[in-house]
Amino acid sequence: MTRFPESEAAYDRRRLHQWAGGRARADGVARRDLLRLLAAAGLASTAPVALSTNTATAAGTAGASGVAGEGIVKPLPPERFIVHGTNAETRFEALADTGHLTPASHFFVRNHTTTPRIDAATWRLSIWGDGLAGGARQFSLADLRSLPSVTRTAFVECAGNARNFFKTQQNQPASGTPWTTGAIGTARWRGARLSDVLRRAGLSHRAVDVMPRGLDDEYVTSNGTNYGRVRRPMPVSKALDDVLLAYEMNGEPLPLDHGYPVRVLAPSWVGISSIKWLGDIEVSSVPLYSPWNTDFYRLYGDAYPPEGSAPLTRQTLKSAFELPWNATLPAHTRHRLTGRAWSASGAITRVEVSTDGGASWRRAHLHDSSHPGSWTRWSTPWTPGKPGPVELLSRATDSTGRTQPETTVHNTQGYLFDAVVRHAVTVGA
Ligand code: MTE
Repeated sequence: MTRFPESEAAYDRRRLHQWAGGRARADGVARRDLLRLLAAAGLASTAPVALSTNTATAAGTAGASGVAGEGIVKPLPPERFIVHGTNAETRFEALADTGHLTPASHFFVRNHTTTPRIDAATWRLSIWGDGLAGGARQFSLADLRSLPSVTRTAFVECAGNARNFFKTQQNQPASGTPWTTGAIGTARWRGARLSDVLRRAGLSHRAVDVMPRGLDDEYVTSNGTNYGRVRRPMPVSKALDDVLLAYEMNGEPLPLDHGYPVRVLAPSWVGISSIKWLGDIEVSSVPLYSPWNTDFYRLYGDAYPPEGSAPLTRQTLKSAFELPWNATLPAHTRHRLTGRAWSASGAITRVEVSTDGGASWRRAHLHDSSHPGSWTRWSTPWTPGKPGPVELLSRATDSTGRTQPETTVHNTQGYLFDAVVRHAVTVGA
């Protein structure tokens, strides 16, 4: 399997060189953003010319709605979801009633705008671009279903999951949706391999990037910037590795909010790579940029170079309790604390729990055979003593030997928080 982000960092530098030389495209990316990246990378001497860097011009814009939960089709009962604008976070305690897989009724939703309604009978996936040997190709849902199918259990997790703890635990606020730990769900996805589809479409050896794009409305911020349709390039190496074009989730057709009729599933990568409501895929012989790999989904901040990190690829390592925040647990009673741990880079090998604010730790029982890009349930008994406030901590380790740290280096957009979460509860009398 290709290892990222190392190769992505090198690839990104090459992409910038190529853009500076007029050999990469950045439609819909503000010119100043590319110039900023170039200047920071010391590549500014070659002025980029003859490249369209206008923001998207397609007609018909619909901005993100300010009404909580508007645009999501499925019910969002408050005992299951916390609604943040156009997004809905799963309450982690609601997962205690579910098995290893997250039912669609409990799965978080991250929508830049609103869930579109697409007619699967007339839907076509268009694959186009100068990275194909022949012309553009169209695939119907029946075409995709006629290809060999792959079934894979994997999480989709937002890059900003747990962002709110930068503020509450580290006193370092970050911009973006204030997710706690519920911007993740694990499902069993079934679909065609993107590699099979690309080969049938006539992938040429010149192709370097593929850019899936959604059919939902263009993303317009509250200050009026139109970023165009949600899209993010990935290198051909990832596209040919393990990416699916999924048409089923947990044995059912994809639900409307999760990408019906077809979404990308990019295992282990940040959720933005898994484009929902897939409409087209550009296959390019030159590197591509979109706002989702320039402005967004890089690490910016004091600890990072001005151009930010390389575009984010792999997710990180986390664990969480299936308990409400500030839950009350009776003293002198044996409780079974449960939770989940997950890593994009390896299997979960250990989860430790502290019930005394981090002074001492003990190992929890693991309940699933773990694999990277999925999660593992865990549990441990606890009989609290004297009443009062307590912080419960869980700390996961994966098969690469990595353990969740005490703090995460801050980045301004609050991505990839991986520190131990201090979960406040009250021991009741
Ligand atoms: N694809 C489209 N077309 N539009 C979107 O708003 N959101 C992305 C990704 N794919 C998005 C998208 C983000 S940021 C995440 S985290 C995942 O979808 C969320 O997937 P889910 O809503 O099925 O949980």
